[in-house]
Parts: sequence; C-alpha cells; structure tokens
Amino acid sequence: MEQEKNIRGEAAENAPCKVAFVGSECYPFVKTGGLGDVMYALPKALIRENCQVRVFIPLYRCIPEKYRSRLTYKGSFMMDLCKGGRTFYVGVMETELDGVTYDFIDNQEFFDWGNPYTGLWEDIPKYCYFSKAVLAVMNYMEWIPDVIHCHDWQAALVPIYLRTRFGGTPVGRAKSVLTIHNLRFQGICSIPHLKYWSDLPDELFDYPVLKQNEDEANMFKGGLAFADRVTTVSATYAREIQTGAFGEGLDSHLRYHQGKLSGIVNGIDVEIWNSATDALLAAPYSRKNVLEKKKENKLALQRELGLEEDEHKMVLGLISRLTDQKGLDLVDAIFPRLIDGNTQVVVLGTGDPRYEGAFQYYEGMHKGSVCAFISYNEGLAHQIYAGADALLVPSLFEPCGLTQLIAMRYGTVPIVRETGGLKDTVEPYDAEQHQGNGFTFDKYNAELLLEAINAAKTVYFTDRWHWDEIVQRDMDKDVSWEKSAAQYLKLYRDLRR
Ligand code: ADP
Ligand code: GLC
Repeated sequence: MEQEKNIRGEAAENAPCKVAFVGSECYPFVKTGGLGDVMYALPKALIRENCQVRVFIPLYRCIPEKYRSRLTYKGSFMMDLCKGGRTFYVGVMETELDGVTYDFIDNQEFFDWGNPYTGLWEDIPKYCYFSKAVLAVMNYMEWIPDVIHCHDWQAALVPIYLRTRFGGTPVGRAKSVLTIHNLRFQGICSIPHLKYWSDLPDELFDYPVLKQNEDEANMFKGGLAFADRVTTVSATYAREIQTGAFGEGLDSHLRYHQGKLSGIVNGIDVEIWNSATDALLAAPYSRKNVLEKKKENKLALQRELGLEEDEHKMVLGLISRLTDQKGLDLVDAIFPRLIDGNTQVVVLGTGDPRYEGAFQYYEGMHKGSVCAFISYNEGLAHQIYAGADALLVPSLFEPCGLTQLIAMRYGTVPIVRETGGLKDTVEPYDAEQHQGNGFTFDKYNAELLLEAINAAKTVYFTDRWHWDEIVQRDMDKDVSWEKSAAQYLKLYRDLRR
C-alpha cells in the first residue's frame, strides 16, 4: 500500500509540468531586447525537460506578416475590463514552433500601434487588458497550467487577477511565478488611471500591494506582492535589488518578500547562436578553427562597414540598447583614448539620441576606425559577434545580460563591469594562473573601464598565445539554458506540490 502510494506520488511528481509563459515580447515575432530572447529560448529548453509550455503574447501589428499569416484562429469572446463594465474583444490566434505553442491575444484597439511599446499612458491599459485576457483565454480554452510564469511589469497584474477576479474559476488553481528582467521599468501611473483600467478592488491600492505613493500606483510592486514566487535573472542581481542602490525604490518591498525571491541565471539558445552553423556569417567556424576563421569574419565585417581592412587591428564591438543602463557615458568619456591606430570600434544600437549622436560624432572623427551603426539589425549583430575580438559591456546595472554570453560562445572576449549577471558569468582573466574568460572592472568609473580595455589590449597585442587560450575557454563555456531550465523546473515542481 505504502509502496503503491510512493509510486503514485512519484508518478505525479514526474508528470509533465504545464507552464504558461506570459510576457510582452518573444523572438522571433517581436523583440526589443533580452526579454524577447528568454521568452523564446527558455520554453524551448523546458520542453526538453518534459514540460508542456504555451507562450502568451499580444498580437501586435508590428509582428511581420510572414508570422501573422501562419497563425490559426482558435476562437474569440468578449471580456469586461475597466470600471463601468466596458467589454472588449479577445481573439486567440495560435501557432507552433519547435514544440512550443504560441497563443497570440488579438485586439486591434490595443495592439495596432507601437513597436511594440508606445508610451506608458497607453501601455498601462494595453497590459491591463493583456494580463486579464490571458487568464480568460486559459479558461476559455480549458487549458489550465500548473504554473503561470509571468515576465516583467507588463505581466505583473496576472498574479493579482489570478487571486482576485479569477480566484473561483478553473485557472485559479494555477500558481504564479513573476520574473524580474529589469526593475527599472515598473508600470507606474496615477492611481485613478490604473484603478479605472484594471478594475481591481480598491483595497489593493494600498502600500503593501499597488500603491507607490499618495498619487501613484505601481503594477510591478503589486505583482511582486501577489506572486507565489519571484525570480530574477542572476543571483547577484537578486541580492543587488534588495539594496537602495539597485532596488529602484522597491528594495524594502523586495526585502520584505525575500523568502520567495531567488536568482536563476539566463542562458542563450545555442542552436541560434552557433558559430559553426550560423548562415549569417562570412565564414562559419568552430572551436577548432576559430583563430583562422575569426580573421575572415573580421575582414568581412570591416569591408561591410567601411573600416580599414586589416586583420591585425583589434576590433572592439558594442551591441546594445543605447540607454543609461548600459554604461555608455563611461565609453563616451574614454572614447578618444580608445583609438590608437591599432584598434577599431564598432557600435550597433539605437536609443537615447545623446548616445546615438556621440557615437556618430566619433565615427565622423575617426573614419575607417570607428563605425556607429545606429539601428536594430539582427544580421549585423551576428557578424559583429563573430568578427570582433572583444565586446564591451560596461553596464551601470545588468540583471543578467545576454550579449556577453553570445560573445563568449562566438569566441569574442567580453570586457564587462562586475555587476548583476555580468559578474556571475564572466570570470576575470588572471594573468598569473592564465585562467578566466574576460576582462572586468568593479566601480562605475571611466578610468577603470579604460584600464580593463588596456589590459585586454596588452594581452591581445603582446601575449597572443594566452589571448587565444581565453578565446577557446570562452567557446568551451556552457552558456546554454540546460542547467537553468532544470532549476526553473524544480521551482515549478515545488509549487505544484
Ligand atoms: P537588454 O535586454 O537589457 O537589452 P541583453 O543583453 O539581455 O540586454 O539582450 C540584448 C539582446 O538584444 C541580445 O540578443 C542582443 O544581441 C540584442 N540586441 C541589442 N541591440 C541590438 C541591435 N541594435 N541590433 C540587433 N540586436 C541587438
Ligand atoms: C533585461 C535586462 C538584461 C537581461 C534581459 C533578459 O532586459 O536588462 O540584463 O539579460 O532582461 O533577462
């Protein structure tokens, strides 16, 4: 009897976990940064762990037609939202990719503008609607997950709706996880605006949940209070956000909830990011021929970007949203001292006009040595990861960071600040022991960044043997999702008990 119970218990424990992913972007449909990568790659990795995963995202107009045209209509209904009982159309369009089911929530009133974001005033109603609609869709489709894994502030009302408006409905059985990808963005607006659109009970607009201050409400804060578990994307960031310096005003709230908070480091999709099969590269390569082939990729990159074609130059890459988070004021401060006749810099990014302008100015000043490519360009990103010798990631804060992981996978040495996930994923080069996989600095200081870059240059130009060893160690490093997906699975299973 006891034995039978154990077998049944174990069988239940090992039954596939049903997980819903809810977030505002997902590669390849719509991506503005690392959140899009994670929403694609983690479900794919979880499938291998015997999970059933469905991803819920909005059907934005900006999703390319080649994806929109292959969606299948699954049904529609009207849903009430807002105080005053206005009702809105909810359509469900579905597709499958690599074993993962994607359900797109269709409503032109909310999702026909933006890239995909517009401005907070419009984004707040958009994501109130989205958060409520995904739960209504799960009930409508009679697909009830064990765990609803919500991502960032745009999905932060899901854990609240789950325990309030949907508490007595089938989906109310599910548990919720809320992952913080970036605490800088929290979905803060006036209390009446959120009260009107969310139609959540008045008592939730108090300090422990949604209230930010006398005038404002904070969606992320409320979600963090209601979620069964909270995760963020590295162990260091999980610690940092509980301090005043990184907590973005929510540090005491997070300390209060620290019992349910943990950090699980991101990985990358090692099929997409595979230099041996990457069709976007001039010369695909593996660990075995990286030293030869990197030169070919470098020459192709220089040609493409109008830089002086010279395989002996050290090429520093920077691929980033151009925002304060990414430490670009440090790069700006030392830029003139980076260019020394043997070094080239390639910047790929868009964002703050101040940084776009600064990099364009440096390109004008140093034609042939500097390229500022001010745009979002997937193909060029691949070519830079392959053709550059080192990648700069001097972030002010970095919850995880994926560019340093991709760089390592492509044998490109990261130069990073020791913060968040950068600290957890890049081991500083030790010139005595010849260990480590990148160059790092600690305090947020331009001179320290310059020192780190100069240390990298010294090894590159005067000790190439050891530089090449770093390149190969980087390519050997496991940056896949495998270990972290197993940690998420454990978390889901603990919640299902
Ligand atoms: P964040 O999410 O803060 O922007 P991450 O390092 O986690 O930073 O992820 C950034 C992702 O976006 C990476 O996949 C990177 O290659 C990609 N990326 C960033 N800027 C560009 C760009 N201008 N063009 C193409 N890809 C970009
Ligand atoms: C955020 C963070 C970045 C992280 C990404 C994916 O955009 O800025 O550090 O890698 O989310 O989790």
